Amino acid sequence: MKNPAVTDQELHPLIMQRWSPRAFDSKLIEPEKLVKLFEAARWSASCFNDQPWAFIVATKDDTVNYQKMLDCLVPFNVSWAQAAPLLGLVIAQKNFKHNGKPNAWGEYDLGQATATLVLQATALDLVAHQMGGFDADKAIATFDIPETARPIAAIAIGYAGEASNLPAELQERETAPRERQPLSSFVFTGKWGSTSPFI
Ligand SMILES: Cc1cc2nc3c(=O)[nH]c(=O)nc-3n(C[C@H](O)[C@H](O)[C@H](O)COP(=O)(O)O)c2cc1C
Repeated sequence: MKNPAVTDQELHPLIMQRWSPRAFDSKLIEPEKLVKLFEAARWSASCFNDQPWAFIVATKDDTVNYQKMLDCLVPFNVSWAQAAPLLGLVIAQKNFKHNGKPNAWGEYDLGQATATLVLQATALDLVAHQMGGFDADKAIATFDIPETARPIAAIAIGYAGEASNLPAELQERETAPRERQPLSSFVFTGKWGSTSPFI
């Protein structure tokens, strides 16, 4: 299933097509596509070119690591993400490599890298669904994540499936209209809250 954004302006097709479904097809992701996803993340911008991101991933055929990943998700996310052929954790490194000082932009850079990965996924006809609903402490213990890194989110990636395969309540959410706040609420000029004149 596809669910393109109904945007007020014509945007790049990748932006309009990207969305976060919960229905996944069982088809595994081809290894050459997997590499491309992370190559896309690799070429994201970052403060001091520090590249403070890391991804721990498990494909569904790697049953042991996949189950470990699934066990880190909150039950609601397990209910749908268990169909995804790839589950992962997106992780920010806390300190700059060049001086060891705290990197205040590490999570910002991780978000950009992940957004870049997700757009590349869209370009490869894949879908991705990011999740804040996971147990970070469990993830740290399960995957030996060092003190110098912080898991920020989980992600499910795969081919889009049919909404009809989801439980009824999730089917409804899958097909609900996608909504956004108006530009006037977040693009300002002069002072906070003062909408820019071009909006
Ligand atoms: C950081 C982050 C955390 C999220 N956490 C969850 C989650 O735990 N479970 C879930 O079902 N969706 C989660 N989502 C998906 C959002 O609900 C979704 O991106 C939002 O509703 C907008 O929909 P769209 O991505 O299809 O445009 C998360 C998205 C992001 C970026």
